[in-house]
Amino acid sequence: MHMFLQTERLILRRLTEADADLLCDLDSDPEVMRYLNGGLPTPADVMRHEILPAWLRHYERPGDFGYWAAEDRAAGDFLGWFALHPSDGRPSREVEIGYRMRRAAWGRGLATEGARALLRKGFEQPEVARVFGTTYEENFGSRRVMEKVGMTLVRRFRPEPAALASSGTYVATFEEPWDGDDLEYAITRAEWERLA
Ligand SMILES: CC(C)(COP(=O)(O)OP(=O)(O)OC[C@H]1O[C@@H](n2cnc3c(N)ncnc32)[C@H](O)[C@@H]1OP(=O)(O)O)[C@@H](O)C(=O)NCCC(=O)NCCS
Repeated sequence: MHMFLQTERLILRRLTEADADLLCDLDSDPEVMRYLNGGLPTPADVMRHEILPAWLRHYERPGDFGYWAAEDRAAGDFLGWFALHPSDGRPSREVEIGYRMRRAAWGRGLATEGARALLRKGFEQPEVARVFGTTYEENFGSRRVMEKVGMTLVRRFRPEPAALASSGTYVATFEEPWDGDDLEYAITRAEWERLA
C-alpha cells in the first residue's frame, strides 16, 4: 500500500486498478451521486477504462497531487475518495479539491477531516497559492465541508453542459445543466496561514 497521509481517523492511500469495483460500488448509490449527475451510477467499463486510468496518471506527474482512497484507519474499510489536483484551464498555482464518501460514512466529520489534511498537504507545496472547490448550490453538506475548513464562497456560476459532461469523475447524460448554479469556494495561502 502506498500511503499518502493519515489523520486521526483516516488513511489516504494511492488508488490502484484493483479499486475499480469499490469505486463503482460508491457511485452506485443514487444519494451519493445526487448532486453530481442527478443520481446516475458510473458504468464499470467507464470507471475501469476511462475515469480510473486518468486518475492514476496523476501519480506520474510532479507534485503531491491526485486522487486517493480513504480508509477507516481502525477498521480498514473503504470510505470513499479525496482529490487534490491542478485543473484544466486554471493556472498551475491553483489546485482543486474534491471528495466523495460512502453514505455510511456521512455525518461524522470525516470529509472535513480529510479535506483539512489535504489543504495542509497542498500548501506544503510552495507552488500552490490557492485551493478551490466547486459544488452545486443545493449540496449543503459539501458547502459546509468547505466552510468548515476555512474556504469561502468566491463565485457563483452556471456550468456549461460541456463542462458537466467532461467532469472526469462521473458520467452525465444531461444536455442542459439543471436549474441552479454551481458555487466556487477557495482559500489562499495567506488565509490558510492565518488559520494555522
Ligand atoms: C458532501 C460529503 C462529502 C460530506 O461528507 P461528511 O463526511 O458527511 O461531511 P462532514 O461530516 O465532515 O461535514 C458535513 C457538514 O455538512 C452538514 N450537512 C450535511 N448535509 C446537510 C444539509 N442537507 N443541509 C445543511 N447542512 C448539511 C453537516 O451537518 C456537517 O456540518 P456540521 O459539522 O456543521 O454539523 C458527503 O455527503 C458526500 O460524499 N456526498 C456525496 C458526494 C458529494 O456530493 N461530494 C461533493 C461534491 S462537490
